[in-house]
Amino acid sequence: MMSNDKELEQFTQQLQAEIMEKIGKVYTETVIDHWQNPRNFRRIKKPDGYGKAQGTCGDTMEMFIKINEDRILDCSFQTDGCGTSIVCGSMATVIAINKTFTEALAEVSASKILSLLGGLPEADKHCASLAAETLRRAMADLLYHKKFPWKKIYRKEQ
Ligand code: FES
Repeated sequence: MMSNDKELEQFTQQLQAEIMEKIGKVYTETVIDHWQNPRNFRRIKKPDGYGKAQGTCGDTMEMFIKINEDRILDCSFQTDGCGTSIVCGSMATVIAINKTFTEALAEVSASKILSLLGGLPEADKHCASLAAETLRRAMADLLYHKKFPWKKIYRKEQ
């Protein structure tokens, strides 16, 4: 019995090592890091900006922004999408946090996300577009409510 447990444990470890080796051939270290430790994967209550978008694959992403004056203090996301969408959402929030509104708007794009991740396979590239689009919508929402602050009162609680 004891030996069976040990064999099973060894088999599992070997399998995990093989899987990681295969993943490492396709994805960069940065991608694997954001996949294993996604940054800012959470909701922000009463955000200053909120965006939701749907990718070409049908997956959705939500982003939340908190600002102080013109600087993005916090940015978070959630998604029902694939592992790569988590990686891209995570990187998008890292790019946005601590930037001014204008800097973030200029910097957050699918190509920037892809370059900071060290690239993604062709089939996963649209996940970066989804993350960039969701963040752009959250920023547009923020701008809209800055212009019409009273309209925020009528927004459903996120
Ligand atoms: Fe849909 Fe990645 S496959 S966002």
